[in-house]
Amino acid sequence: TDKKNSIVEEIIELKKKRNAILLAHNYQIPEIQDIADVLGDSLALARAALNTEADVIVFCGVHFMAETAAILNPEKTILLPDLEAGCSLADSITVDQLRKWKREHPEAVVVSYVNTSAEVKAESDYCCTSSNAVAIVNSIPEKKEVLFLPDLFLGEFVKKETGRENMYIWQGECHVHAGIRPGQVAEVFTNHNDADLLIHPECGCSTSSMYLKAEGILPQEKTHILSTGQMLDYSNKSNAEQFIVATEVGIIHQMEKQNPNKQFIAANPEAVCPFMKMITLEKVLMSLKNNTHIITVPKKIARKAKHAIDRMVSIG
Ligand code: 13P
Ligand code: SF4
Repeated sequence: TDKKNSIVEEIIELKKKRNAILLAHNYQIPEIQDIADVLGDSLALARAALNTEADVIVFCGVHFMAETAAILNPEKTILLPDLEAGCSLADSITVDQLRKWKREHPEAVVVSYVNTSAEVKAESDYCCTSSNAVAIVNSIPEKKEVLFLPDLFLGEFVKKETGRENMYIWQGECHVHAGIRPGQVAEVFTNHNDADLLIHPECGCSTSSMYLKAEGILPQEKTHILSTGQMLDYSNKSNAEQFIVATEVGIIHQMEKQNPNKQFIAANPEAVCPFMKMITLEKVLMSLKNNTHIITVPKKIARKAKHAIDRMVSIG
């Protein structure tokens, strides 16, 4: 529509004027994906934030992502167009809970998924994302105990992939991914049995799909547990014509855009993250106009958290 076009034009103009860049996560609404300077998974966006020459970063994603960008770039202005864009997974552990857990395992190495608050990161030795969690845990000496948080499904996946016995897992979850059930994936597969299965490790079905795979119920060579960015790469390269997508459905817009001749089927069409959908074109425009909302992290917390985040961006 004309209104939408004029908002987009204004955004482009303001971006130029302010030397700003738009970073967007793969779960953003299509209109935001279509105007992003960089679209990607959590790791790709953290790396993009680190490498940009822009003065202003508008983060089209959720709060912890903007915080991570702020920690990596204290001298830049980091904007989150809606302060309410949080994350149920990040909310599943507080810094006090982590401190108590650490006291119970004083020798353990703490690995935090990037979906955590800056305070939790500051109490962690390593951060990781879904695309490098296995590599990060593998980089830790075998005899060291590991506390992995906060996602139980990603934790179980990493524990199986690394074969690590001395790894304790926090029982948090993302309500969107936990809602994608193993039965749904198996059922969709029954109706599309030539399809490749792409499963995010935060899903309730990710670890059970490993069993289903081992039992021969899901085909070994077609079942892939991947981050959102890895899913996109995989679907671009694969010769399959159909893909069952077990993650937040926003990514399907990008998959279809990059592969107009392939078919993408949501394992659960109701897997929609309400936080990711809070970012709209109007709010992006307002954020560039009014500097809303500037995300900063107190220096002391940022310094400690940066150590863990630096390891995340450099491994895997
Ligand atoms: P990735 O895009 O890094 O796979 O993360 C998924 C997610 O849920 C982010 O909130
Ligand atoms: Fe958080 Fe889940 Fe939404 Fe990702 S999809 S931002 S993990 S609530």
